[in-house]
Amino acid sequence: MSEIGRKKISAKADQFTESVIREMSRVALQYGAVNLAQGFPDFPCPLELKQAAYEAIEADVNQYAITWGDRPFRQAIANKVRWYLGLDIDPETQITVTCGSTEAMAAVMLATVDPGEEVIVFEPYYENYGPDAILAGATPRYVTLHPPDWTFDQSELRQAFNANTKAIIINTPHNPTGKVFTRDELSLIAELC
Ligand SMILES: Cc1ncc(COP(=O)(O)O)c(C=O)c1O
Repeated sequence: MSEIGRKKISAKADQFTESVIREMSRVALQYGAVNLAQGFPDFPCPLELKQAAYEAIEADVNQYAITWGDRPFRQAIANKVRWYLGLDIDPETQITVTCGSTEAMAAVMLATVDPGEEVIVFEPYYENYGPDAILAGATPRYVTLHPPDWTFDQSELRQAFNANTKAIIINTPHNPTGKVFTRDELSLIAELC
């Protein structure tokens, strides 16, 4: 608190905690433990990518980018999705490029959820979903995934859905458990949605 009794940071930011992943890396370093919390690339960036970056710098490609992604990039993503998943995606209307999935999740939550609405989150959950919910003013409704195969109780999920439910976060394969949601589980979620 400052002398005039006002906090310098917002009430929302005040609720954020330190990243659990970063904290675990710090503790692992402190005790010389094997760090399973965070992955660090131990291979070089592909040559083609470095070459393209050099060429873009050389060519003074330095104007404002289209905020939802360069057209050739979105087209390339659509091509990959068609080849990899067999889905026909329109790069003009159905692809938005973001700076990682962290930005994508925050953007989607802010774009779809109003304060007071509920978002269903399976727990344990990837740590960013907490701050995402805070930013959107959403109330998280947690549904537990149970070991050893990290299934959820169907009636618990049914009960979590109510008139205030606006979204459900599905992370599959799931971090931190590695669970892949089955077709039956996804069908139930689809039915409840
Ligand atoms: C479920 C999940 N979401 C988001 C992220 C962060 O992804 P990005 O670096 O693309 O923001 C990770 C990273 O491990 C993750 O596991």
